Amino acid sequence: MKAVVVRKPNEIVIEEREIPEISASQVLVKVKAAGICGSDVGIYRGLNAFATYPRVVGHEFVGEIVEIGTRVEGYAIGAHVAVDPVISCGKCYACRSNRHNVCHSLKVMGVHQDGGYQEYVAVDEQQLHLLPQELPWNIAATVEPYSIGAQVAHRGRLSADDTVLICGAGPIGLIILQVAKMKGAKAAIMDIVDSRLEKAKAMGADLVINSRKADVQAELMNFTQGEGASLIYEATGNVKLLKQCIKDFSSAAGRVVVLGFSKDVLDICQLDIMSKELEIIGTRLNNHRFPEVIEWFKAGKVDPAAIITHRFKMEDAEKGFAIGKEHPEDTLKVILTF
Ligand SMILES: NC(=O)c1ccc[n+]([C@@H]2O[C@H](COP(=O)([O-])OP(=O)(O)OC[C@H]3O[C@@H](n4cnc5c(N)ncnc54)[C@H](O)[C@@H]3O)[C@@H](O)[C@H]2O)c1
Ligand SMILES: [Zn+2]
Ligand SMILES: [Zn+2]
Repeated sequence: MKAVVVRKPNEIVIEEREIPEISASQVLVKVKAAGICGSDVGIYRGLNAFATYPRVVGHEFVGEIVEIGTRVEGYAIGAHVAVDPVISCGKCYACRSNRHNVCHSLKVMGVHQDGGYQEYVAVDEQQLHLLPQELPWNIAATVEPYSIGAQVAHRGRLSADDTVLICGAGPIGLIILQVAKMKGAKAAIMDIVDSRLEKAKAMGADLVINSRKADVQAELMNFTQGEGASLIYEATGNVKLLKQCIKDFSSAAGRVVVLGFSKDVLDICQLDIMSKELEIIGTRLNNHRFPEVIEWFKAGKVDPAAIITHRFKMEDAEKGFAIGKEHPEDTLKVILTF
């Protein structure tokens, strides 16, 4: 079978490998589609602190069951499944607190161990989620990024009462926007790329701000009658912006949810957090959110097709990795097909 392997930073190859053997508690998944995420590109470019090499990347993948382990029940050959890439120990404090996505010995498929950019993958039973058979594969491949949207909604206690500010209109920011609108919140979104903001407007953003052209704070204060946003998602990865979120953009009793994973250090003032009783909330991956997302997809509550801009054959993975950098203005989610 073929596998997309990042041998070392900036070197991607299509390798011929043996089809994996499954254990009694695993199934063999024939991969049909897989999304390219910013973090996959980060691994390719050598910028991901968690990854080791060589690595079969890909943590947003779906496929069809072709073989079933002897102890696995409730799945049939031919069933369509999404694979939750989060693997945890089940014993540490985080796991015991029902927060397995930040397990002390967390492993993510495609990051710490081989992932979904290969024709067949052996997957543990507890990572499987049944998909409707009629759901197109490229749409199904976005269940994992939407699980980030579900997780951040949960972490930020997103409700219809919120005035949300989303920093960054990349695939993740736009997914958060769709989730915020689905929940009935008012939502503003900012970016520096107009075409992404136009997409956001079409998805129902109540206010779009190009931070290169407009005074974000002034626009936001006007939008919130001087209160600031009750819930802010920092989805650009820019720490300077995180500082502004805390200091200038948040309302009293607000929450700032941090998605980025920059190692840059930030100087923030205690008073800005204390005086507003601000909550600064981390969020990572997803905590058993696939079933919720699959329900959204079934009910048509979100619009995954709107964030998919490109499709490439898995053999052309390198092109798929490059396109976002070459054409950021018209690239959002890129899907590899198998
Ligand atoms: N915590 C998690 O579980 C998790 C999961 C997925 C992604 N992420 C992170 O979320 C962030 C968004 O992911 P993505 O895939 O949408 O990334 P992306 O790079 O495609 O999108 C980021 C967007 O931010 C915009 N941007 C960058 N700097 C800006 C600035 N100074 N002002 C305004 N806009 C700016 C860019 O134009 C782009 O549209 C990334 O930092 C990513 O690492 C976190
Ligand atoms: Zn991802
Ligand atoms: Zn654990």
